Amino acid sequence: MMPNLLKDETNVEKLHVAILAFPFGTHASPLLSLVRKIAGEVPKVTFSFFTTTASNATLFSPNNDCLPNIKHYNVDDGLPEGYVPSGHPLEPIFLFIKAMPENFKSVMDEAVAETGKDITCLVTDAFYWFAADLAQQINAKWVPLWTAGPHALLTHIYTDLLRHACKQVHDVQNVDLIPGFPELKVCDLPEGVIDDTDGPFATMLHKMGLELPRATAIAINSFATIHPLIENDLNSKFKLLLNVGPFMLTTPQPLISDEQGCLEWLNQHKNFSVVYISFGSTIIPPPHELIALAESLEECGFPFIWALRGDPKEKLPNGFLERTITKGKIVSWAPQMEILKHSSVGVCLTHCGWNSVLECIVGGVPMISRPFFGDQKLNARMLESVWEIGVGVDHGVLTKESTVKALKLIMSSEKGGVMRQNIVKLKESALKAVEQNGTSTKNFTTLIQIVTS
Ligand SMILES: *[C@@H]1O[C@H](CO)[C@@H](O)[C@H](O)[C@H]1NC(C)=O
Ligand SMILES: *[C@@H]1O[C@H](CO)[C@@H](O)[C@H](O)[C@H]1NC(C)=O
Ligand SMILES: *[C@@H]1O[C@H](CO)[C@@H](O)[C@H](O)[C@H]1NC(C)=O
Ligand SMILES: *[C@@H]1O[C@H](CO)[C@@H](O)[C@H](O)[C@H]1NC(C)=O
Repeated sequence: MMPNLLKDETNVEKLHVAILAFPFGTHASPLLSLVRKIAGEVPKVTFSFFTTTASNATLFSPNNDCLPNIKHYNVDDGLPEGYVPSGHPLEPIFLFIKAMPENFKSVMDEAVAETGKDITCLVTDAFYWFAADLAQQINAKWVPLWTAGPHALLTHIYTDLLRHACKQVHDVQNVDLIPGFPELKVCDLPEGVIDDTDGPFATMLHKMGLELPRATAIAINSFATIHPLIENDLNSKFKLLLNVGPFMLTTPQPLISDEQGCLEWLNQHKNFSVVYISFGSTIIPPPHELIALAESLEECGFPFIWALRGDPKEKLPNGFLERTITKGKIVSWAPQMEILKHSSVGVCLTHCGWNSVLECIVGGVPMISRPFFGDQKLNARMLESVWEIGVGVDHGVLTKESTVKALKLIMSSEKGGVMRQNIVKLKESALKAVEQNGTSTKNFTTLIQIVTS
């Protein structure tokens, strides 16, 4: 509780914070965590959380209940009546983008009518460039949340420059434009930065880069010391940049369950001896890569925990499960943060989603990267070339040979030991940021003051 925020009770009761979530991938969940933390500090402020029915359904579990001052509203998902998916995985996202911002506006009007309180602050996913104008029209503040890393945000701020540079030189490979990221390669850039620039997603991100400097403050799920040069550059672009992460340390997290006994299993293993494998909640690598990965695990013989959705018998080589029964544990769901904090885990094979990267940093576990889309390739490049806390597989594809090489490098070479030291240093820096006087803690206090005054 922050008594200084509650001095003027009548004013506080008039405040109405509207939260606009991006209802796809892992965007809405960190935004809800952020808002739960803020709402918990100021019980008299009204919060209205807008997302689609489908997204709302994934946000709540028995362990993640609602706070009384957060009211949830369903925003129209933009799908036509009787929508039949065409099979294009991005189609629902494009239809949603087409429906904004009108779909948000109508349900926001509803929330204002229902509560009798005008909206005083918009807290949105950073994607929502239209919130800059909207906030201005209703005389509210705008506080976007960027859920990925600081270097990824910079590529969207520098989009026009990057496009210009790539037009000038067609065979450009390295784009040495972003301070603190000299190793950045054109092929690492998220889709839509320099190719397919007319698509709905690319257009949204481009406009985001142009509008974000108008925000009252930008919150980011990161910590200031993760990369001082990039932080300085971002700071110079925005009115106020608030590093308020890593969220797993600064915001309320759902209770973990470990029904498949991962931690008990890890207790039986030596320090740094286990390989942990997870590609996040949406990605399943192609069949030939899963088989190559299985073969590489058998070849190396390291104990492993593999979070794998679907039937492992169908996906993995014949007899693999029987042959590795004493070495490996395959689970359909894993308590990832707890696993990464366990001393027996020596490496994490990951798709390099930002949340997973932060969890590996907090766990002090070096990574092998197999990125797929979005910011994942940028993250993989940062791990390998800038922070030196991870390594990729050759040509970004899991083959038996390249995976064996990467596993051995991290688990049993001197270079792997250096990566472990590097990531432990980053971990210590993250832990410092969330101490009582740490930068993330202080920035969080500032964020709460901005949103609730
Ligand atoms: C969101 O989901 C929760 C939990 O299932 C449910 O109680 C709530 O009514 C939903 N909110 C809306 C606006 O549908
Ligand atoms: C294993 O790691 C734990 C936790 O870091 C540590 O306390 C313990 O001393 C280590 N054990 C060995 C044998 O190094
Ligand atoms: C935090 O900073 C204040 C003021 O500088 C100081 O009095 C206090 O002891 C510090 N607290 C911790 C836990 O370091
Ligand atoms: C936010 O954190 C930075 C360090 O990144 C610090 O310099 C700054 O004073 C903090 N700002 C506020 C307003 O809390």
